[in-house]
Amino acid sequence: MHGPTGSNGPTGLTGPTGPTGLPKAELHLHIEGTLEPELAFALAARNGVTLPYADTAALREAYRFSDLQSFLDLYYGLMAVLRTAEDFTELTDAYLGRAAAQGVRHAEIFFDPQAHTARGVPVGTVIEGLSASLERSEERYGISTRLIMCFLRDESAESALATLEAAKPHLDRITGVGLDSAEVGHPPAKFREVYEAAAALGLRRVAHAGEEGPAAYIREALDVLGVERIDHGLRCMEDPELVERLVRERVPLTLCPLSNVRLRAIDVLADHPLRAMMAAGLLVTVNSDDPAYFGGYVGDNFDGVRDALGLTPEQLRELARNSFEASFLDDDEPRRARYLSEVEAYEFGAE
Ligand code: HPA
Ligand code: ZN
Repeated sequence: MHGPTGSNGPTGLTGPTGPTGLPKAELHLHIEGTLEPELAFALAARNGVTLPYADTAALREAYRFSDLQSFLDLYYGLMAVLRTAEDFTELTDAYLGRAAAQGVRHAEIFFDPQAHTARGVPVGTVIEGLSASLERSEERYGISTRLIMCFLRDESAESALATLEAAKPHLDRITGVGLDSAEVGHPPAKFREVYEAAAALGLRRVAHAGEEGPAAYIREALDVLGVERIDHGLRCMEDPELVERLVRERVPLTLCPLSNVRLRAIDVLADHPLRAMMAAGLLVTVNSDDPAYFGGYVGDNFDGVRDALGLTPEQLRELARNSFEASFLDDDEPRRARYLSEVEAYEFGAE
């Protein structure tokens, strides 16, 4: 069957038949970046926090970013409303519901413990709250999940080590570590020691690199931190030898097209190098980064690049296939094969 009468999707119910309904994994998603203005105000009221905005409309008005730092200032500021484990559970439930509606079948979710411990919220509270949602995710939303703990690269290496130490009682909940926040001036090598410690604990490793920072940071993340995936990696295109290496080693890049426009890495979506990156043979995936702030969830990113870059259904299918291939699902985990077969079986139709 084709078109709106099709029966795509895990439930067999009629659903979207464009890129939104395409089964996909989301591999670059900051859970704190899913805090929608409505939930921010509800949590502020519940927790007795006063926000410096009159209402949700005024808050949305502030979402005009000139670069990564201007976004991070607002992003960290708004986190003041997240105080209890229940707050983190609610935040995660809201994301999973939205993600399910946009075809997400597997999500590898970042969180920023230092942004919370700095405000007196213990890392255990954060992890307990996130986990309470994630434990029910497959049953409620049909989404399998992994949790990735990020270190803030504009904080010290010692602070990252202390964060890993504090998270040790909870490592059964954590699949890997990542590196985020202000990139320029904070090269990956600063975090060599904590990444070595994480690897010794059996944690997987990823890092943001080449978003605003240079291609050299991508090399450094691979060579010094031993990362398996690069988050963003946009600026690899400035270095043909690096591109060749990323292709040869099949290093996944988790691109976030709408984020790149909102944070002014590129002017408009039509300028996004995604097509050129696919043509170069790179293992690229499409993700939402901080969807509450950047104008859309992962399906919206797929829709956006389809429209702006004229991607064909087969190119969209390749992106979905890549997302499961690049995931931390074990090679022999039955879900991996199941999701990949859902991608192949997906019938595109008119939206
Ligand atoms: N880049 C770096 N750090 C971040 C981002 C991002 O896009 N989102 C949340 N933390
Ligand atoms: Zn990010």
